[in-house]
Amino acid sequence: MRYREVGRGGHVVRISAIGLGEMPLSLRSRPDEEQAIRTIHASLDAGVTLIDTADAYCADSRDVGHGERLVAKALASYGGDTSVILVATKGGHTRTEGGGWGRDGRPEYLKRAAEASLKALGVDAIGLYQFHRPDPNVPYADSVGAIKELLDEGKILMAGVSNASVEQIRQADEILGGALAGVQNELSPSFRSSEGELAYTREHGIAFLPWSPLGGIGNADQIERDYPIFAQVAHDHGVTPQQVTLAWLLAKGDNVIPIPGSSRPETATASAAAADINLTTDEVAALDGSSR
Ligand SMILES: NC(=O)c1ccc[n+]([C@@H]2O[C@H](COP(=O)([O-])OP(=O)(O)OC[C@H]3O[C@@H](n4cnc5c(N)ncnc54)[C@H](OP(=O)(O)O)[C@@H]3O)[C@@H](O)[C@H]2O)c1
Repeated sequence: MRYREVGRGGHVVRISAIGLGEMPLSLRSRPDEEQAIRTIHASLDAGVTLIDTADAYCADSRDVGHGERLVAKALASYGGDTSVILVATKGGHTRTEGGGWGRDGRPEYLKRAAEASLKALGVDAIGLYQFHRPDPNVPYADSVGAIKELLDEGKILMAGVSNASVEQIRQADEILGGALAGVQNELSPSFRSSEGELAYTREHGIAFLPWSPLGGIGNADQIERDYPIFAQVAHDHGVTPQQVTLAWLLAKGDNVIPIPGSSRPETATASAAAADINLTTDEVAALDGSSR
């Protein structure tokens, strides 16, 4: 397993270069709990030390915190050392009774959400807390200000933002006094418009967590069809196009930590193994050039 460092402003931890995205284990399409826990355990067995979840990873408004409770349960029942695991969660998305998604970036809401996440995870402090998505009805500075308060109070050890523009990243880092630890934005072969945010974070030593790195739940098989070069490079390395995709993202910077989601142990193990693939500069250039 290859490792990365995440954290600025005093708190820095070493984590696996590939994380586990927990979302497929919590939405309505989720597997049963036994399979979900086996999937998390398989990921940990493979050396993964970052699990990304969110309070909103659940079926609907009655189920908020499902993902966090699941992660807590999986860690509690894991036989190995869990002291090195970084659990990253998020607040700022809400769920409706019918399973729809909403946003709430009001400071009072975010502080309440963080308290609920502390309880769901069963911890005294959250390892990495990310503001999930800007709320158009709330000034960004107000939302990030609440995250800063949580950091100052020691309720979260590191702060991150998600779905943020370069300007929002710059603003968040300023409000956090240079302690912004991570940015989580969408990036995959089929979604490349976060390259600007990636470049900014790389320059400033902020971790960049590409979300839906394989194109999203149920879409991983399309990489080969839509981007044949990923299949060609995979063939040359004796690996899969999905593994090449993760290796390609890793090659974009020492600050990049992809968080592929899995609903089965097999895919969790395969994704972790991608951390050990080294692509040549020519291969990375060819993959970069494959944009449709
Ligand atoms: N911040 C945000 O707004 C935001 C939004 C979306 C997602 N996220 C985060 O990003 C994570 C990843 O995104 P995602 O789960 O939406 O999509 P994803 O990681 O792009 O794709 C997940 C799918 O890929 C398959 N897969 C995973 N590893 C594979 C491998 N090695 N080989 C073949 N197939 C593989 C899985 O199949 P199986 O189901 O068969 O295992 C699953 O269907 C989420 O879990 C969540 O933590 C964040």
